[in-house]
Amino acid sequence: MFNFNKEFETIFKIVAQNADKLGISAYFVGGMLRDQLMGIKIKDIDILIEGSAIDFVQNLASLSSSELNVDIKSVHDAFNTAKTVINGIEIDFASTREEDYPKSGCLPVVKNIGCPVECDLKRRDFTVNAIAARLLLDKNELKYELIDPFNGSEDIKPRTLRVLHEKSYIDDPTRILRGVDFKYRFNFNFGEADKFLIKEYLKSPDREGLSIDRVKLTLKKLFSNVNAKESYKYILENEIYKIWSDTPAFKADWAQRLYDSSKIFNTAKEDVFLKAIFECPDKAVNLQGVNSSNYEIYKLYKNFKNIDLASQYAVYNDCDAVFYYKKLKDIKPDITGDELIKQGFKQGKELGDELSRCLEIKLNSISRD
Ligand code: CTP
Repeated sequence: MFNFNKEFETIFKIVAQNADKLGISAYFVGGMLRDQLMGIKIKDIDILIEGSAIDFVQNLASLSSSELNVDIKSVHDAFNTAKTVINGIEIDFASTREEDYPKSGCLPVVKNIGCPVECDLKRRDFTVNAIAARLLLDKNELKYELIDPFNGSEDIKPRTLRVLHEKSYIDDPTRILRGVDFKYRFNFNFGEADKFLIKEYLKSPDREGLSIDRVKLTLKKLFSNVNAKESYKYILENEIYKIWSDTPAFKADWAQRLYDSSKIFNTAKEDVFLKAIFECPDKAVNLQGVNSSNYEIYKLYKNFKNIDLASQYAVYNDCDAVFYYKKLKDIKPDITGDELIKQGFKQGKELGDELSRCLEIKLNSISRD
């Protein structure tokens, strides 16, 4: 069913064998399984334990041998999860759990850690992410039993996104953003019923309990993926920003410059997009049209961080910010302070003024081309 290389297979066989010995079950689930079923190379390895993941990895670690080297990097007691490196490969273990959303959009309350896998699957977003594959060892061969209560495997081929129940987007509106991410990453599309549920939700979004941090974290992941520009436009055109605000403070025509600016100013694309959406500067600070000198441009921008310059360019189409970054920011006067002292300048204001004057002359001699 799956095609893993030898190193992965060795580890998964030991996991299956150990689970069998302990009388519990271990599963592939969520994104890892979805990507496998789509034939996409997996990014992260996550294993779900129907029971206590911490106990499971501690037991694995006690079996360490020439074939197995288990390093437990960290454990999180509240959720009963563990991060490990096994034979040099990072593997995260989680325990099955259920979740409740006391208020729309809030962080879920975790309960029933170690519950049956079917209950864990019910807390998930889309049918394609609510599939589990139990790891089994049969005559030293890895086998998998698919647990697919919502028929998610049938939605994989047509790339359809369907939530598991009608309240899903109300419970967690960031799922709409996750859907946009899947749309541009894997060509998924919201199913008809989901389009309707999303429209209805956006007509009267309930923001009282909304975790804005979760919204930002989800957007950050979305914009870090390849199609940031398209996702940004989709969020505007389909009024998905209504999850967190009635009117958007960001504009469609910034999209290309936002995308370009992360390269020009060497900043993470996701940070530039997020800043534009949530912190777009209130008014332009640029000097364009004022016929300013290079020295004035330099003074204006010298305390800007790269991300602020990127935002300045993207939002206001401010070419001075690009000119400053590419040509002015590293310019130094032709003469040093020590040399000026040798020429008789006194340390303090006199020296400072002279250095600034030399810098001004140097900067103003730089051409824009
Ligand atoms: N999940 C969810 N609702 C969310 C976030 C996550 O139901 N708001 C569930 C999904 O079932 C998802 C799993 O938690 O498959 C793991 O989430 P995450 O690691 O964020 O994403 P993946 O689906 O694994 O996908 P990828 O890492 O490729 O984005």
